[in-house]
Amino acid sequence: MKASAIIVAAGSGRRLGHDLPKAFVTLGGHPMLYYPLRALASVKDVSEAVIALPAGTQSAARSLIESAGLDIPVKLTPGGAERQDSVRIALEIVSAESDVVIVHDAARPFATPSIFAACIRTAYAAGAAIAAIPVTDTLKQVDRNAIVATAPRTGLYQAQTPQAFRREILIRAHREAVRDGIAATDDAELVERLGERVEIVEGSPLNFKITTSDDLALAQALIASHLPS
Ligand code: CTP
Ligand code: MG
Repeated sequence: MKASAIIVAAGSGRRLGHDLPKAFVTLGGHPMLYYPLRALASVKDVSEAVIALPAGTQSAARSLIESAGLDIPVKLTPGGAERQDSVRIALEIVSAESDVVIVHDAARPFATPSIFAACIRTAYAAGAAIAAIPVTDTLKQVDRNAIVATAPRTGLYQAQTPQAFRREILIRAHREAVRDGIAATDDAELVERLGERVEIVEGSPLNFKITTSDDLALAQALIASHLPS
């Protein structure tokens, strides 16, 4: 079994509001993109990586690949206007020999090698698998600053990345999304539309996405406390 990893790192990080693109903002002494590359270096089934990057960052990315010890062929490409475009562009240059493609956000620096491995294993067996965690807070429907209903949270999960798919399923999902003019915030949604089964793999609350400066402060504190490995 062979897997290709797509890391989407081409976003500008508008909500973070830093001068650098988000994937290159420093976290614990390294640009954020270093962490998923280091995690991938310990996932044995991954034989290739494709990274979607902001313009002008290819040589910086090459040195991160080196310092993370990622010793597999890595293809670099400029990203697209939206995340979904960046995934589609990267998918076009994934090796046709790969059985599984695993997609991950550079903005989730705490994804562990075992989460990657579990998604790949499950996607190979079941077709598609994503990291997710059960919703633990009570959910309120709010209108004009007042609660109108309490939504049942039974069976609700928060989707994370990595998300892994048999290669031909992900290609078909992106092709049909273009054909039908569908914009989604994750790849699983595009695969769900095909009627394919997408399984859940246990993610982690530590695998949160760095979106705002509060998220970045939390990530800095976690790294300083040596909590994640
Ligand atoms: N991403 C990408 N190409 C885009 C937009 C996003 O590769 N055109 C990537 C980001 O680099 C990030 C992941 O998709 O790793 C998740 O996106 P998000 O957290 O929204 O990052 P940004 O789009 O950079 O942030 P913002 O929406 O605040 O601008
Ligand atoms: Mg975005």
